[in-house]
Amino acid sequence: MSTIWARERAESHPKEQPKLHLKHVTRLFQTPNGPLTALDDISLNVAEGEFLCLVGPSGCGKSTLLNLMAGLDRPTEGEIWKDGERLDGPATDHIMIFQELGLFPWLTVRENVEFGLRMRGVAKPERQARAREYLRLVHLSHFERSYIHQLSGGMKQRVALARALATDPAVLLMDEPFAALDAQTRDRLHEELERIWTETRKTIVFVTHNVREAVRLGDRVVVLTFRPGRIKTALTVKLPRPRHLEDPHLALVARDLLVQLKEEISRSAKEEYRDEESG
Ligand SMILES: Nc1ncnc2c1ncn2[C@@H]1O[C@H](COP(=O)(O)OP(=O)(O)OP(=O)(O)O)[C@@H](O)[C@H]1O
Ligand SMILES: [Mg+2]
Repeated sequence: MSTIWARERAESHPKEQPKLHLKHVTRLFQTPNGPLTALDDISLNVAEGEFLCLVGPSGCGKSTLLNLMAGLDRPTEGEIWKDGERLDGPATDHIMIFQELGLFPWLTVRENVEFGLRMRGVAKPERQARAREYLRLVHLSHFERSYIHQLSGGMKQRVALARALATDPAVLLMDEPFAALDAQTRDRLHEELERIWTETRKTIVFVTHNVREAVRLGDRVVVLTFRPGRIKTALTVKLPRPRHLEDPHLALVARDLLVQLKEEISRSAKEEYRDEESG
């Protein structure tokens, strides 16, 4: 076992009750070409306050898995438990952040952050105070009156993050939130997200295609296989925080994971090629 990473069973987290517990989760979809097994027998624990990263090739079921964790979709087989209770509907204290963000262009930055609170019936003065607090946390206080189109991509991401955090979710589910950003902006957002996570100790499940990003952020990194999505590897990253993308130790851990990911990407490419040949 290395001092900077350790391979382990994805469901192992011995001491406490996990925040999320996935037990033999399978998700089948009916498609015009017949049934498709998007996820197959996923058993996985997410500990309270853990930062878990999910990596896998396109189409391996990452978004499907996040939807299941949010309670927005149900497994075909298997069970999902949250805080020791079976999850069988949308989890109101889980919140998703998508790559497309879903910010409202007709609302100001602050109104966007207030939106979730308004939906929950929080009174205006408290809403405004909380929105300001979270805009401070993501360093956007000066832009509270701006509209979304007046912001850069990185700033929009921070608004989405502030909006999600303002509702004080127990679990933050992030689906490739930084994929469309340039490297410098992403770097800065990694720092901010790590700082916010350290301050708030939210449980975070973060999906990415990028292995280095996963090692930069995650306490653990889980690699999924391509179709059906199964757990290929689960790795605990033991590098101290704050971490830096340029750290050679980080690159070393990422390299091992990249080999695993590349195997799956080449499987997915072969399958597409075969589909085209037979189609
Ligand atoms: N509602 C649905 N109906 C039918 N098939 C679906 C549905 N949702 C997802 N799938 C299929 O399940 C598989 C996994 O999809 P999913 O979106 O979870 O992948 P992903 O890992 O998030 O991919 P990407 O990295 O491209 O976002 C894909 O083959 C997809 O076509
Ligand atoms: Mg996806």
